[in-house]
Amino acid sequence: MLGVCYYPEHWDEARWVDDARRMVELGISFVRIGEFAWSRIEPSRGQFEFGWLDRAMDVLHAAGLRIVLGTPTATPPKWLVDEHPDILPYDEDGKIRGFGSRRHYTFSSRTWWRESARIVEIVAKRYGEHPGLAGWQTDNEYGCHDTTLSWGPEDLKEFRQWLRLRYQSADQLNEAWGSVFWSMELKSFDDVRLPNLTVTEANPATRLDFWRFQSDQVAAYDKMQCDILRSHSPERWITHNFMGFVSDFDHFKVADNLDLASWDSYPIGFVEKFPFTEEERNCWAETSHPDIAPYHHDLYRGVGKGRFWVMEQQPGPVNWAPWNPVPKPGMVRLWTWEALAHGAEVVSYFRWRQAPFAQEQMHAGLNMAGLDELSPGGLEARQVGEELTLFGNLPDVQKAQVALIFDYQSYWTTMIQPQGKDFRYEELCFRWYESLRRLGLDIDFVRPGTSLEGYPLVVVPCMTEIDLITEAALAKATGTVLIGARTGSRDRNFVIPKNLPPGPLGQRTGNRVIQVSTLRPGLSDAVEGDVKGAAIRWRETVETSAEVLARFSNGDPALTESGNMLYLACWADEELLTGVLTLAARKAGLETLSLPAHIRIRRRGNLTFAFNYGTEAWPIPQEASVLFGQAVLEPQAVSAWKHA
Ligand code: GAL
Repeated sequence: MLGVCYYPEHWDEARWVDDARRMVELGISFVRIGEFAWSRIEPSRGQFEFGWLDRAMDVLHAAGLRIVLGTPTATPPKWLVDEHPDILPYDEDGKIRGFGSRRHYTFSSRTWWRESARIVEIVAKRYGEHPGLAGWQTDNEYGCHDTTLSWGPEDLKEFRQWLRLRYQSADQLNEAWGSVFWSMELKSFDDVRLPNLTVTEANPATRLDFWRFQSDQVAAYDKMQCDILRSHSPERWITHNFMGFVSDFDHFKVADNLDLASWDSYPIGFVEKFPFTEEERNCWAETSHPDIAPYHHDLYRGVGKGRFWVMEQQPGPVNWAPWNPVPKPGMVRLWTWEALAHGAEVVSYFRWRQAPFAQEQMHAGLNMAGLDELSPGGLEARQVGEELTLFGNLPDVQKAQVALIFDYQSYWTTMIQPQGKDFRYEELCFRWYESLRRLGLDIDFVRPGTSLEGYPLVVVPCMTEIDLITEAALAKATGTVLIGARTGSRDRNFVIPKNLPPGPLGQRTGNRVIQVSTLRPGLSDAVEGDVKGAAIRWRETVETSAEVLARFSNGDPALTESGNMLYLACWADEELLTGVLTLAARKAGLETLSLPAHIRIRRRGNLTFAFNYGTEAWPIPQEASVLFGQAVLEPQAVSAWKHA
C-alpha cells in the first residue's frame, strides 16, 4: 500500500479537501501528519489551538485516508526553549546547539522529558480514539543531525547516575575502565567527566559507556512516549521512523517498544552519505546503488520483528546532500517496488507537495512547488498505485537463506577504536550484504542473540563483544557460520579477552589472533587457496588448530574452517569477499547466481522480483514465467515471476 507525508499547516485550509481527494485518486491509503506542528498546536504555554488539526483529521478521514499522527517532539517551540534553555543539546566541543532548525533537545534533560510527556499526553488524549487514526509515530528520526550524543551539564548529570547504577562503587568503575592507566582513577562518581575536550584520546571504555548510556536514553525516552500513547490510545499501533545510517543508538532496543519499525528512504541522498568511492558515486548518482535501500529494508524488517514501513520515500531530488540529482525516470517506481518486494507494508512518499518556502524548498514532493500538479515522481507514484490495484495482495515474506548479525555496539566500538582509519563497521556490513545479493541471496538482519536455527548460512561481518546469548545462539546454529575479523576481540569492559580474540569463539573456531596489522589505502596482502583475492585495511595473524582453506602471502592462515565455522582473518577486497561468500554458500547448500553489478533480485513468498539499476537490459532467467513486467528487464524496470 502507499502513503504520503502531509503538512496541512503549510497550506491554506481551502485546499485540504482537494488534496485529500487527489491523494485517494493517486492510490494513497495512509497519510502521516503532525510531527513538526507543536508551535501550531500550542502557540504559547497552555494555550491550545486544536481546531485546525481537528478539521484536518476530519477532512482526511472523510476522504477515506488512514492517518498516522506524529508526536511533535522533534521541534520544541521557541517559547519552550526560552523558558527552559536546559533542554538544548551541546556539541562535542561544548557549544550549545540552539533554536532555529529542529531536534534541538538532549535526551538527558528531565525538563524535556516532563514537557514531552505533557504534550504527548495532551495529543494522545485528544486524538487517541479518532476514527481516522491508524497509528502513531513517535517523534521524528531519533539521532538525525547527530543528535543522539550531547555533551552538556544535563548529560553529565545523567551519565553519572547511569554509571552509579551500573558500577555501584568508584572502585568497580575504576576496575572496569582500567583507570589505573595514565592515573585516571576517580574517587567518586562526582569525579566523572564527559569523554570530550581531553588533551588526547579519552579512555575507550568511558567512551563506550557514554555511547551506551545515550543509546539507553533514546530507548527509554521512546518508551516513555509509547507508554503514554498506549494508555490513551490502546487500539492503535506505534512506530518510529528511523533514519538510515544513523547508528548512534541501538534501533533494536527502541523497537522493543514499537509495534512495527519504519524508516526514511532517500536512496540518492545516501549515495553521498555512504563512503562510496567517487567512481561508484558517479555511477549510481541518478539511481542510487542497488543495495542502499534494500540494506535498510532488510535491517528494518529485522528491527521491526518482521514488520516495517517506508515512512518517507524520496520522490525526486532532495535538498540536503552535497549534490542532489534528479532520479532517472522510473526510479521512484522502482524504489517503491523494491521496498514492497522486501516486505514493506506501506511505502509513504515524502512529501505530498514541495514547499516553496523554508529549508526544504529544493526538496521534491509528489506535487510541484506550491502547486496541485503532479511532479515526475508523483506520476510514477500514480503508476504504482494503479499497478498495485491490478496486483492484489502480495504473498507473505519468508525467512531468508542468510542471516546477518547486525550489532550497533560494534559500530560504536570500532568508531572509538578504528585502529585503521578506514575500518568502518557499516561499510563492512554493507559490502558483505552487497556481495551476498550479487549472489542472488536474500538476507535477514538479525539482532545479536536471536536464534539462528534454520538458517542455512549465518554471517557475522564483525561483532566485537560476543555476549553469552550470542555465543549460545552461535553454538546452536544449524547452518554454516562465517565469522569476520575483529569478532570477539573485546569483552564488555572494552578489554581484550584473556584467551585473545576471538575470545568466546576461540575454541569453536580453533583460532587465536596474536597480532593485527592495518593497511593504508593502496596496500594489500594476497590471499590464495580455496579462495583468492587480497586482504585490505585489516589483516590478522592467527594461530590455528582448524583447517586452513586459504593463506596470506607469507603462509599465515587467512580463512579457516572448524566444524560449521569459517573464520576470515581480514577485511577482504571484492574478489576475496565474493570467493569467501560463494564458498560459504556452497558449504551451506545454497545455490548462487552471479548477478551483474546493476541487477538485483528479491523473493517474496513464491514471487521473485528483479530490478535494473543500470544502463543495460538483462534477460531474466529462461524458465521464468513472467507475471509482471517484461522477460527482458530494461534499465530502471521491474519484473516479477513465480518461482518453484
Ligand atoms: C527526513 C526528515 C523529513 C525531511 C526529509 C527530507 O530526514 O524526516 O522531515 O526533512 O528528511 O529529505
